[in-house]
Amino acid sequence: MVQGVFFNVFFTLYMVSDRTAHRVVGYLEEQAVISYTHMLDEIKSGVLENGPAPKIAIDYWNLEENATIRDVCLAIRLDEAVHMHTNHHLSDRLQLKQEDLRVDIQKLQEERGMVPKHNAEEVWSKPNKY
Ligand SMILES: [Fe+2]
Repeated sequence: MVQGVFFNVFFTLYMVSDRTAHRVVGYLEEQAVISYTHMLDEIKSGVLENGPAPKIAIDYWNLEENATIRDVCLAIRLDEAVHMHTNHHLSDRLQLKQEDLRVDIQKLQEERGMVPKHNAEEVWSKPNKY
């Protein structure tokens, strides 16, 4: 039921403004990154148990056989971060009317005084406290 409502709302949003639709997904994925970061904090502090990863997760995320729940959370958080950057990037491209993925849009953004919503380089260079 909820999926049906979401599909129709998102489909309509995409038809009205694809740029906004990608931005919304970017923010949803950003919230997922934050949620997994909180979960990692709770594992680190002992609130959540860091047991062995389920086999299905090991296989899906291509983890070591002795992987833990923490390893699964790190893999998922990284994947969500990629989704976040991809969607914000696509929204930026649509705003610039530059949909050719071979074109580096950073120069266009600088020329137009745009600040990218998320600078992937900045995020990746932050020290990982885990
Ligand atoms: Fe995602």
